[in-house]
Amino acid sequence: MILIKDGRVIDPKSGMDETLDLIIRDGTITEMGKFQKSDDYDTVIDARGKIVAPGLIDVHVHFRDPGFTHKEDLESGARAAAAGGYTTVVCMANTNPVVDCKEVLCDLQRRASSLPIRVLNAAAVTVGLKSRKLTDMEALKQAGAVGFTDDGIPIQDVKLVLEAMRKAKQLGVPLSFHEEDPDLVGSPGINAGKIAQAVGVPGASSMAEETLIARDCLLALETGAVINIQHISSKVSVELVRMMKMLGVKVYAEVTPHHFSLNQEAVLEKGTFAKVNPPLRTEEDRYALIRGLKDDVIDIIATDHAPHSKEEKAEGILKAPSGLIGLETALALGITYLVRQGHMTLPHLLEKMTVKPAKLYNLDSGTIKIGGRADLIVFDEREKWVAERFHSKSENSPFIGTELVGKVKYTICSGRVVYQEEEGTYES
Ligand code: DOR
Ligand code: ZN
Repeated sequence: MILIKDGRVIDPKSGMDETLDLIIRDGTITEMGKFQKSDDYDTVIDARGKIVAPGLIDVHVHFRDPGFTHKEDLESGARAAAAGGYTTVVCMANTNPVVDCKEVLCDLQRRASSLPIRVLNAAAVTVGLKSRKLTDMEALKQAGAVGFTDDGIPIQDVKLVLEAMRKAKQLGVPLSFHEEDPDLVGSPGINAGKIAQAVGVPGASSMAEETLIARDCLLALETGAVINIQHISSKVSVELVRMMKMLGVKVYAEVTPHHFSLNQEAVLEKGTFAKVNPPLRTEEDRYALIRGLKDDVIDIIATDHAPHSKEEKAEGILKAPSGLIGLETALALGITYLVRQGHMTLPHLLEKMTVKPAKLYNLDSGTIKIGGRADLIVFDEREKWVAERFHSKSENSPFIGTELVGKVKYTICSGRVVYQEEEGTYES
């Protein structure tokens, strides 16, 4: 039995925001109120001056397992997630082999079942992420896929997207889209324009993203499918999603912490660690993303945690792979760049990291309630720290050396302490 004492309990779903104690028994929150410490508890967590919130949910991570486990694997990814305050993550399908059939999916799920946090999967929309043939979405859904995406490789065939949406609507699952038309991308990872010119690459324009967002939202309007625009990055994209929501499109949008914290200038200082798809864009774009979060055009904060090795990232700006790790800095980036800057309240930030992602993928978590699963995070919203070392196998973060505010103290998943800051420990 665990007692979490005297924390400020924030539950964005119910609107609860008060100082309370929680009792956890057999993986479940059994009581909320005021309780005395006693020997009945195996663990008492002193949460005075700290925030207690639902465990975070990240609907966009790359754990590189199977196929690229020198960058990350299920265990190291779960460890990084727990250290970042996450109790549920959804892995993307761009592994080797691709998660496009039951065999690969079931193997992942079997191995994930012994991890201390919930590691779920989105399966591929098209076989081999090749934009030629749809996967057996029905079988994959039955086998446990929470949604479908070809993340990393945008789907070019419009007829296939239409067919996928009809199927997704019928199955009641969401489709998530990485929107960057390869025909309009000169070179990936750096915004086309002055920074791309300065580092000597053609770059990727926001038009490549915006045209596909318009296409897929219109297809979703026609089919009634629920869709999710992954890692939205430009001002026009935000305005498109705003308009599409007004037209009745069932569209969600995700933004990454790096897109709301940094602009394209970061490439000059951080080099390939700031190379990411879609690219970091202008300050005007960054501001539009923050506005989109504030007024709920953007529903979800998701990291796109994309580990790459030192050697690969050292290959030069044109050749190095795109992507950066994000699980261990996401909450602090939200607090530092959104809450402390006065753009959003803490409950509003947490809503986009708990309730909204749970809603998109129909997950039974993301809230604090009696009888509910004890997935919780305890953090200090004021503590300053500098990101230096990671639980992830990779360290491709542009935030190394940056002072951040907001530190995870405990992560509890299904009633077990899976991360405790003081010891930097993690239970497997
Ligand atoms: O920069 C990125 N890297 N964006 C993606 O969408 C995929 C990811 C990866 O898999 O490395
Ligand atoms: Zn992507």
